[in-house]
Amino acid sequence: MPDQNDTNEKPRAIPPVSLSATGETPPVDHLDRDQAARELERLARMMVRHDRLYHQQDAPAISDAEYDSLRARNTAIEARFPDLMRPDSPSRRVGAPVAEGFGTVRHAVPMLSLDNAFSAGAVAEFLTRVRRFLGLEAEEPVAVVAEPKIDGLSVSLRYENGVFVQGATRGDGETGEDITANLRTLYGKGMPSRLAGGDLFGQGVPKVLEVRGEVYMTRAEFLEFNRRQEELGPKARIFANPRNAAAGSLRQLDPRITGMRPLRLFAYGVGEVHPFDWSSHWEFLDRLRGFGFAVNPLARRCETLAEMLAVHDELATRRAEVPYDIDGIVYKIDRMEWQRRLGFISRAPRWAIAHKFPAEQARTVVEAIETSVGRTGALTPTARLQPVTVGGVVVSRATLHNEDEIARKDVRVGDTVVIERAGDVIPQVVAVVLEKRPVDAAPWRSPATCPVCNSPAVREEGDVVRRCTGALVCPAQAVECLKHFVSRAAFDIDGLGEKHIEDFYAGGLITSPVDLFRLEERDQGRLTPLAARAGWGVRSARKLFDTIRTRRAISLERFLYALGIRHVGATMARTLAAHYETLPSLRAAMVAAADRTGESWQDLVTISMMGTVKAGAVVAFFSDPRTLTVLDALAGLVVVEPFAGRAPNDSPLAGRTVVFTGTLTTMTRQEAKARAQAMGAKVVESVSHKTDYVVAGADAGSKVLKATALGLVILSEQEWLALGAKRSYPHGQ
Ligand code: IVH
Repeated sequence: MPDQNDTNEKPRAIPPVSLSATGETPPVDHLDRDQAARELERLARMMVRHDRLYHQQDAPAISDAEYDSLRARNTAIEARFPDLMRPDSPSRRVGAPVAEGFGTVRHAVPMLSLDNAFSAGAVAEFLTRVRRFLGLEAEEPVAVVAEPKIDGLSVSLRYENGVFVQGATRGDGETGEDITANLRTLYGKGMPSRLAGGDLFGQGVPKVLEVRGEVYMTRAEFLEFNRRQEELGPKARIFANPRNAAAGSLRQLDPRITGMRPLRLFAYGVGEVHPFDWSSHWEFLDRLRGFGFAVNPLARRCETLAEMLAVHDELATRRAEVPYDIDGIVYKIDRMEWQRRLGFISRAPRWAIAHKFPAEQARTVVEAIETSVGRTGALTPTARLQPVTVGGVVVSRATLHNEDEIARKDVRVGDTVVIERAGDVIPQVVAVVLEKRPVDAAPWRSPATCPVCNSPAVREEGDVVRRCTGALVCPAQAVECLKHFVSRAAFDIDGLGEKHIEDFYAGGLITSPVDLFRLEERDQGRLTPLAARAGWGVRSARKLFDTIRTRRAISLERFLYALGIRHVGATMARTLAAHYETLPSLRAAMVAAADRTGESWQDLVTISMMGTVKAGAVVAFFSDPRTLTVLDALAGLVVVEPFAGRAPNDSPLAGRTVVFTGTLTTMTRQEAKARAQAMGAKVVESVSHKTDYVVAGADAGSKVLKATALGLVILSEQEWLALGAKRSYPHGQ
């Protein structure tokens, strides 16, 4: 399966498990050789088919669990009969989207690392070593190219006759991972698919050229990307810094996920190459630009040590202005002939060195240790700091993770601490400066009650986190739950941002999800209606009410996700929806499952990926009278649609990408989307060349213009209905 940590993979829309995929075959240890060989052949054939259905046709025919059991069976048989492993074995299919890992690439020229210099003196010594090694006269100038050291992931890109044929990670320097498919998603973002300047037969460009470069994310794009990840729900991976995000994105097994990430590349070096016709690194950088690569515009050619240090010092102080993370300057001897002569020493070239920037550290005083309360009641301590500038960014808070971490570092209020921004967005407390500790500084004790609602805060055995037990009675949890409830993957109430929720909660306008659907009605009776409040107007208030109205119909899986049940992310919500199909049947089953000796409990725990801990959380949620009150009230205000099931594969919309725009007259946008999805379509917000149909309702605007410009099929609401009308909907609409 693609990266399990990531929820923006396409969910597999499958109802419960049947035995058809695995077949009624004997256990692996009962197989004789012949049977094993036949079984491996059968499995290879089946997996090819299911991979194709899943990845190319977006129409999977088996569940994740069934798919995994096929793979596990294949692996188990291969482990028993290693010599029977087939050339087309699913476990060998490397680089393909569902491979368990990547293939390996042996670098024709090793990818080395760099020696570091941390001071001007060390840089001067580097130049002295170079001069001595080459036996240069004192007056002979040594030109050096100074380039920013990008904090990303290094890759090697191989072009043959001008065409990109293979891309790899650095790996251990000798052997890297084959990430060709993922790197193809960077075409036009710093790397060309074909070297510019050559003809169709590769004349005019090197026959072989391996370009080395760094894949990175800009800080702004990283923050935006993390924000979107957050919206995807609790299971989506949040990255600590742009470098981790770039690395995680490049190492996705499904290149479509990589393609959605904001990655870019700077080229700066070369591996295998022939013919080779540049005499200096500076000239080579120019060639790279000519071939169509992005080359860092901050690179400078220096003639003296003073010039080199000036480049370093200037970028060190202006580091925060550079839109991506850099952690130093790389100096490279410019003349290729000298580079060749200097060669390598162990794992690093003699002709280059990295002059690192000082770590982004600062000292400041802890003014308070504050505890915030999350949606599930988790208490997270944060240090409030005397504001201080770290690497160009003013910092007034630092994360302390959890109470064990505070105890380990013994951080106390009043302490002077060293904080560091190691590329991470939120700084860390690295250490306490003990000599500066005030005499009366007391060790920090974690609160026994919730700082917001005073309910007992307990730490269950085996949990590193202490939690408030107040549930929705706790305003902090209530606000976080509301934010989750309206988030994109849940009720998707655009126009109701986090700040609004906080304001509405504080003003008593919305204190539970139920109030959301009574907002308009309540608002009418208020002295100061929403439209008259600061930051709002008649139009924006109307728009919000309209959105809320259209969201009154919601699919069961979104509804379950919106409830914010512990351990129930988007995927688990879908699994539960597929299993129980309607809200009343799910609710009845959960109430019955409170009896752990009964059938309902058994049925629940055997759901794929469930297990007793998650099952316990779901049952606890549905047996809490406070939850049931909210559910009952919601039942009168929203329509929870039964699980829509799997798309019929023969639907004309199966596998198609559809964009809805404008106002539809026969149904809400929400319903239209659900219907399209039920017919196997993928509904997206923006128009691109990948869009198959644009359904234009009344007053459709720019999306239709764009679709026209792209020559896409534009359907009226009636035409779209006609397309779907011939089909029956799984739940008889
Ligand atoms: S040259 C043979 N130039 O730094 C030396 N490396 O610490 C090849 N890096 O693995 C490296 N920006 O990932 C070079 N302008 C730059 C660089 C750069 C970032 C990374 C690269 C390398 C690491 C070495």
